[in-house]
Amino acid sequence: MKTRMLCLLPVILVCSFCSVAFWFFLTNNNVITRPVSKIPQKGSDASESCKGCKDSVLITKALENYSSKWKKQEANFKKFRSLLSSKCHAVSKAVVTQSNTPLGSNVVYDGERRKPLQVTPALFSIFAKEQPFRNATFESCAVVGNGGILSNSSCGQKINSAQFVIRCNLPPLGNGHEQDVGNKTNLVTANPSILHEKYSGLMDRRRPFVESLRPYGQALLLLPAFSYAHNTPVSLRAFYTLEDFGREGPLPVFLNPDYMRRLSKFWRERGLNSVRPSTGLIMASLALEICTNVHLYGFWPFNKHPHDNRSITNHYYDDRESKKNVHSMPTEFEHLLKLHKQGVVHIHLGDCQPNRR
Ligand SMILES: *[C@@H]1O[C@H](CO)[C@@H](O)[C@H](O)[C@H]1NC(C)=O
Ligand SMILES: *[C@@H]1O[C@H](CO)[C@@H](O)[C@H](O)[C@H]1NC(C)=O
Ligand SMILES: *[C@@H]1O[C@H](CO)[C@@H](O)[C@H](O)[C@H]1NC(C)=O
Ligand SMILES: *[C@@H]1O[C@H](CO)[C@@H](O)[C@H](O)[C@H]1NC(C)=O
Ligand SMILES: *[C@@H]1O[C@H](CO)[C@@H](O)[C@H](O)[C@H]1NC(C)=O
Repeated sequence: MKTRMLCLLPVILVCSFCSVAFWFFLTNNNVITRPVSKIPQKGSDASESCKGCKDSVLITKALENYSSKWKKQEANFKKFRSLLSSKCHAVSKAVVTQSNTPLGSNVVYDGERRKPLQVTPALFSIFAKEQPFRNATFESCAVVGNGGILSNSSCGQKINSAQFVIRCNLPPLGNGHEQDVGNKTNLVTANPSILHEKYSGLMDRRRPFVESLRPYGQALLLLPAFSYAHNTPVSLRAFYTLEDFGREGPLPVFLNPDYMRRLSKFWRERGLNSVRPSTGLIMASLALEICTNVHLYGFWPFNKHPHDNRSITNHYYDDRESKKNVHSMPTEFEHLLKLHKQGVVHIHLGDCQPNRR
């Protein structure tokens, strides 16, 4: 019965939400593959010079609040963290668990108003038994965005040295990227869009999916299964695939829409008027609740490097353009820069010297 429903779901969605679904596949892709998107559009070479000026104005403005000589300001950190925890409760709510989402209750999608999903015994049985961040206070966390600024950064060692490493949307780690991005992963997100793009929505062979997750070891695989109804079936397929074939691999868990609602509200109240925060901001916010020192890498929404003006690609692993999205990246980045300035999070923009911490 349940299986049948899951099979039917996509059909129903395709019929009634065709354009919406397509839009969100695109946008969700942006969300994760590029936590902080570029503000200016990449133009043709002809408009390059003018775009350059505009870029440099934006970069100069952004750098006003950036200092590479960063020092943590304990009082600001504590204040921000306690505010965030009191409103969002990541520790007890970030992940769907059997205690925060009981049998018979309703899961209310955070990204769309539609019929909530009832927690059936079958669904309940795959919810995490325990909150993975219960009591978690990691000494240091690295949240690794996928920005091209990480290319040739030599930040891999520094990223690996964090106690807890968070990555976004199953980014490539091998192929020579290790030096720049490291290879340690404790949590990695997987958006439905990438499951569709890279793994045929897990409708065909599933082993390649399981095998491609090897680099993440036994990290938590965070699936935003309950943001939009069309995300649910593919996320459940990812879950079942790992349950069936991935014993040694990542541990799939579901992002809690209740946490997402709280987080969206938190940032909305601070002037972020996007539909919902990007994955990068979600992960940075999560880290702020569970880590004592939060380092952000690969967050830079411009296509020129701040230090030497060299061109940088869209992602550290490719230069694929992303379409416009539902997030307001410039505003998000401004907020993060503000926290950087206040000594709350440490944004790393420069290249790292591998042997120095
Ligand atoms: C820099 O910080 C100041 C004061 O905190 C703020 O008013 C300004 O908007 C910030 N600029 C940018 C580009 O974030
Ligand atoms: C972890 O949390 C549980 C319940 O919140 C508590 O009973 C336990 O003592 C905590 N453990 C540690 C090591 O803090
Ligand atoms: C990285 O460095 C290599 C070798 O120096 C160079 O060919 C490449 O263009 C650089 N990539 C970026 C994005 O700067
Ligand atoms: C990361 O790379 C190092 C060196 O190549 C290797 O020893 C280690 O096992 C790798 N770690 C993970 C989690 O893949
Ligand atoms: C980068 O370009 C801007 C504008 O073209 C210029 O003002 C700035 O000095 C350049 N910075 C470096 C490090 O070359």
